[in-house]
Amino acid sequence: MLQAAGFQDTMSDRETKTVCVFSDLHVFCGRSQAAERMGAVHDAMEGADLCVLNGDIFDFRWTVFAGVEETVPHAIAWLEEFMARYSGRRFHYVLGNHDAAGPFVDRIETLAEQTPELTCHLLGVKLDQSVFLHGDVAHYAMSKDHFEGDFRAKWRRDRKKGPARNWLYDRGFDYGVHRWVHRTAFPPRVVAKRVTNYLLEKGLGPDTGTTDVYLGHTHLALSDYEYEGLRFHNTGAPMPGLEFRPMTITLTEERQTDL
Ligand SMILES: [Fe+2]
Repeated sequence: MLQAAGFQDTMSDRETKTVCVFSDLHVFCGRSQAAERMGAVHDAMEGADLCVLNGDIFDFRWTVFAGVEETVPHAIAWLEEFMARYSGRRFHYVLGNHDAAGPFVDRIETLAEQTPELTCHLLGVKLDQSVFLHGDVAHYAMSKDHFEGDFRAKWRRDRKKGPARNWLYDRGFDYGVHRWVHRTAFPPRVVAKRVTNYLLEKGLGPDTGTTDVYLGHTHLALSDYEYEGLRFHNTGAPMPGLEFRPMTITLTEERQTDL
């Protein structure tokens, strides 16, 4: 389903719920090590009641398949297989920029309408006092309106990039350039400031009870980074030389807000 229905019912079953969150698998990108490093996801899923797939789970820009449309059925099959392995859990799929391609969004929204245990969030979700969002709002300094409008619209139209550019990225990864780029572009304080500004514009700042923010996008694992009354956590990415750190957290109250 799209958005919240059903979650409140399941929360009343027990006092707490355990959430597993991870992001940035970039499945179908040749540079991703997701297949080899899924053990970390499966370990975190042990005992989880809910799972937040926090964006860039699939990569349509750098897909190994012929194009976006050709990749969509593989992504849906991957997701259905994952949900079947953990049947009985609830799944929140938060879109990132690399999996915001229009044909996939249309398909996963249809799947969510047909699948009671799956909710698709275009921008993110707040569960209890924790916000889950991909983090591409911190790609550069931007307003809420720009992020939710032009920025995501560009990614919705995104197509597979050509082999020359892909080869260049491959060589960049060979030499570890990606690690330098991410660390230079995304210092924790800059990311925290941009995300905090977005949450304040959305009316979801710390003054509304938000305590923790879980994000990805920067591919740099981070735990308990404090900024302006919020704690930031990043689950990293299974990319060469980068830490990948799926997390589990506990929810104590039955509140859900779709961003
Ligand atoms: Fe990513």
